[in-house]
Amino acid sequence: MSALKMGIVGTGGIARGRHIPAYVQQKDQVELTSVFDQNQEAAKAAADEFNIAHVAKSYEELLKKVDAVTICTPNIFHAELAKQALEAGVHVLCEKPMATSVEDCETMVNAARESGKILMIGYHYRFYRESQAAKKLLSSGEIGDPLVIRVQALRRRKVPGWGVFTNRSLQGGGCLMDYGCHLLDLALWLTDFEDVDQVLGQTYERISRDPEQVNEWGVFDPDKIDVEDHATAYIKFKSGATLLFETSWAANILEDKEVLSISGTQGGIEVFPFSVNTSKHGMLTTSQAQWLPGEKDAGLAQAQNFVRSCLGLEQPRTTAEQAMKTSEIISAIYDSSSPN
Ligand SMILES: NC(=O)c1ccc[n+]([C@@H]2O[C@H](COP(=O)([O-])OP(=O)(O)OC[C@H]3O[C@@H](n4cnc5c(N)ncnc54)[C@H](O)[C@@H]3O)[C@@H](O)[C@H]2O)c1
Repeated sequence: MSALKMGIVGTGGIARGRHIPAYVQQKDQVELTSVFDQNQEAAKAAADEFNIAHVAKSYEELLKKVDAVTICTPNIFHAELAKQALEAGVHVLCEKPMATSVEDCETMVNAARESGKILMIGYHYRFYRESQAAKKLLSSGEIGDPLVIRVQALRRRKVPGWGVFTNRSLQGGGCLMDYGCHLLDLALWLTDFEDVDQVLGQTYERISRDPEQVNEWGVFDPDKIDVEDHATAYIKFKSGATLLFETSWAANILEDKEVLSISGTQGGIEVFPFSVNTSKHGMLTTSQAQWLPGEKDAGLAQAQNFVRSCLGLEQPRTTAEQAMKTSEIISAIYDSSSPN
């Protein structure tokens, strides 16, 4: 079987830190053929660093040279770049969040359907070994029906002081688009994307506007940041289950927290670290995994799944249809929020 020819569009932090190194580790199945960045110097630097032969002068030029592309640009460009690639018959792995609006997600889903090519979204949290174990356990029915899902993706005063993260015109939002979306997507995937009844959300941005910044992750201009730094939501599913959601880059809390817990009718799961809470033989028991199977590097596992899906060897774990449902909830959180 010949290797999949892979292109990269946007050669910034995530391309160089996660995607390109993951493809480099799969040389038997994927060949990094070409890179394109609107900043040609950035593209050339990535090509030099990873020995990629071709630096494209345009996206169209890149698309002619590849079977698949990984989109690593700011969020606002995801939809158009994905559509163009799919229309050119090229498979797509697009970084998360899928896009900045539900309409853009629909455009992407339609383009994928019409082309018959793979469109996968980079929600790499689904590839953590803990996530795999949780999915297996939930599918077994051992904890019964999910009742209450708690998601906390919280950082104490760590607004990213670099890159495009705090720029609404490029990213479409702040901590919800950047960080919270991962755990929200994971919770929805674990519980099989139940039909949503209601979403009530609230975003906050006052801490980041404080001119006296105390921020662990670099410096940003409090006059220029125009995205939320904290968001909460109450999501009610038609089944009656609820999801209590909170994400922040800048919370005034004791310490960072990454929580995904599912309390079901027969038992519960904490995903990070992985444990199962049940009541058996008249006792309350908690079992913790001593060892979890699978690839430790979730970025590598994601790249393997994408490459193997393009080669027809397996199915994508993160489908565009599912990622669009995550984006629908993100949009509903923004829509129901009032200025704060
Ligand atoms: N999965 C994760 O955990 C994770 C982490 C960080 C970033 N991301 C996502 O990755 C994407 C990129 O983030 P980043 O941190 O690498 O950003 P970055 O700013 O470091 O890099 C983006 C690159 O894209 C280039 N670019 C911008 N617009 C372009 C266009 N229209 N065509 C071609 N190139 C263009 C820029 O010149 C830059 O080199 C975003 O969607 C972000 O949400 C995901």
